[in-house]
Amino acid sequence: MSKIQINNLTVNYTEKKKSFTALKDVNFSIEAGEFVSVIGSSGCGKSTLLSILEGINTPTDGEILIDGEPIHGTGTDRGVVFQHYSLFPWMTARKNVAFGIKQVRKDVSRSERYRIADEYLEKVGLEQFGNKYPSQLSGGMQQRVAIARALAIDTDILLMDEPFGAIDAKNRTILQELLLDLWEGDGTTERKTVVFVTHDIDEAILLSDKIVMMTANPGRVYREIKVPFDRPRNRSELVQTKEYTRFRNTLLSMFYSDISTKIGGEEVVL
Ligand SMILES: Nc1ncnc2c1ncn2[C@@H]1O[C@H](COP(=O)(O)OP(=O)(O)O)[C@@H](O)[C@H]1O
Ligand SMILES: [Mg+2]
Repeated sequence: MSKIQINNLTVNYTEKKKSFTALKDVNFSIEAGEFVSVIGSSGCGKSTLLSILEGINTPTDGEILIDGEPIHGTGTDRGVVFQHYSLFPWMTARKNVAFGIKQVRKDVSRSERYRIADEYLEKVGLEQFGNKYPSQLSGGMQQRVAIARALAIDTDILLMDEPFGAIDAKNRTILQELLLDLWEGDGTTERKTVVFVTHDIDEAILLSDKIVMMTANPGRVYREIKVPFDRPRNRSELVQTKEYTRFRNTLLSMFYSDISTKIGGEEVVL
């Protein structure tokens, strides 16, 4: 059984009495411990898909099964990280992480929550910043806290919606490598199942086992592509290989051939 099974998912939005199909007959599955990126241009329904997975939105038709069971609302089996830093501004970094743990793991004592919070802040390189408030941290640091919180909560599934989309290029690279290392682990712990939304092809290749490429109007799955590179991955080594360049070019031409059909069938020359 797949960890996540998406069956004929269709989502219509109604606005001013007009119905709009954001997702149409989306089908794919995600195995336990798999890192899957959903990639597609703006408006193709990526965030809509994640909102259904999170349980804050319901499908018009079709369903998503987690461990074979339909989703009923939000659940403690799923953690989320969004593009915009979702930290509570009135809580320190430590408290944000500890509070996240409290929301999901009721059995953990207060002192244990803070111990785990410190452990994860250290993993993301923020051990010196635990007592700072979000307004005292840069965007990249705030997103590190959000990642620490999502990992510390220790859910089976992690949902990430363009988590590095608002971060400058250099810090984005650092955060991608941090996430890659934390998720790959040292081989002794079970990997989380991750659904990662992005519009960045290099980010998707570096991180993922599988890439689900979507097309817009209505949002559909265009292609599912397995990423053929071994783990653990090292970005600087990987990007120098011929295989990487070839794979990346294939993905880019798929991505743009889809867009070109949308703008009148003109071939896009890369
Ligand atoms: N609550 C909503 N009501 C009406 N339309 C919506 C709503 N949320 C999203 N949409 C529309 O659905 C489409 C898909 O949106 P979204 O899932 O946010 O796409 P993406 O994350 O890929 O950019 C867009 O055209 C968007 O304008
Ligand atoms: Mg979005």
